[in-house]
Amino acid sequence: MRNIFDSHAHYDDSQFDCDREELLGRGLPQAGVAGVVNMAADLASCQTTWELTQRYDYFWGAAGIHPEEARDLPEDWLAQVKGWLKKPKMVAVGEIGLDYHWLDACPKERQQEVFGQQLELANKLSLPVVVHDREAHADTLAFLRKHRPQGVLHCFSGSWETAKEILNLGLYIGLGGVVTFKNARHPVEVAQNVPLDRLLLETDCPYMAPVPHRGKRNDSSLIPLVAEKIGELRGMDPQEILDITQENAKRLFHIG
Ligand code: NI
Repeated sequence: MRNIFDSHAHYDDSQFDCDREELLGRGLPQAGVAGVVNMAADLASCQTTWELTQRYDYFWGAAGIHPEEARDLPEDWLAQVKGWLKKPKMVAVGEIGLDYHWLDACPKERQQEVFGQQLELANKLSLPVVVHDREAHADTLAFLRKHRPQGVLHCFSGSWETAKEILNLGLYIGLGGVVTFKNARHPVEVAQNVPLDRLLLETDCPYMAPVPHRGKRNDSSLIPLVAEKIGELRGMDPQEILDITQENAKRLFHIG
C-alpha cells in the first residue's frame, strides 16, 4: 500500500519513546506512510509536535489545547498557541473541542470558552481546525454553526444524521480504527455514506488500533486495515480509498 495519510496522530506520546526514531525514520515510510499530521493537546505538546515536523519531511503539525487540558492554562496561552501556528509546517488548530465524558478534568463552561477562542483564532489565521467531540454532539455542532471554520471532525462517533449536519457546514469527517470494531454501528453507517471527497483517515495513535490489533499500540502503518474495511463497505479497492483520502488531507491542510 502507498499514499497512506494519517490526519491525526500523537507520536510525541510516551508509548513511542522506546522506538520512535526507528518507527518514524524507517518503519512508517517503508510501510507506505506518506503524510502525518501530529496533534498537540497542551502547550508542551505544541513544542514536541513542532519538533517532529522539523525532524521528518512527511510530518506536519497542529497546535491547540484539548478540552481535557483546558483548566489550568497560563494567562497568555492563546498567544502561545498563535506563536506555534505561525511556524512553518504547522497547518491546523488542534486538537480542540468538547469532552463531556471527563468533566472532572475541566468544567463545561471552561471547555466552551477555550474552544470558542481557538475557533476564532483559526478563522483569523485562515487555518483549519481538528475537532474532538466526545458526548457533546449538540454543543459542538452549535459552536461550529456559529464560527463556521474549515476543518475535520476527528474520530467521528455520531450518527449519520449528525454527520450530514457536519457535512453541510463544509467540514470533513475523520475515521479510524473504530470502523473495524464489532460494535461500530454509527461509524460503519457514516463510512458507507460519507461523500468520498470529505473523508479523512486517521489513527489517533497510540490509541484506537483497528481489529485485529484492538487494544494494542496503534501506528499509521495500520491505516490500510481501515481502508480495507471502508473499501469492503463501499465495494472499492482499498488503495483507491488511500489515494483519495490523501488528496483530501492535502487539500484541507493546504499541503503541497
Ligand atoms: Ni487525538
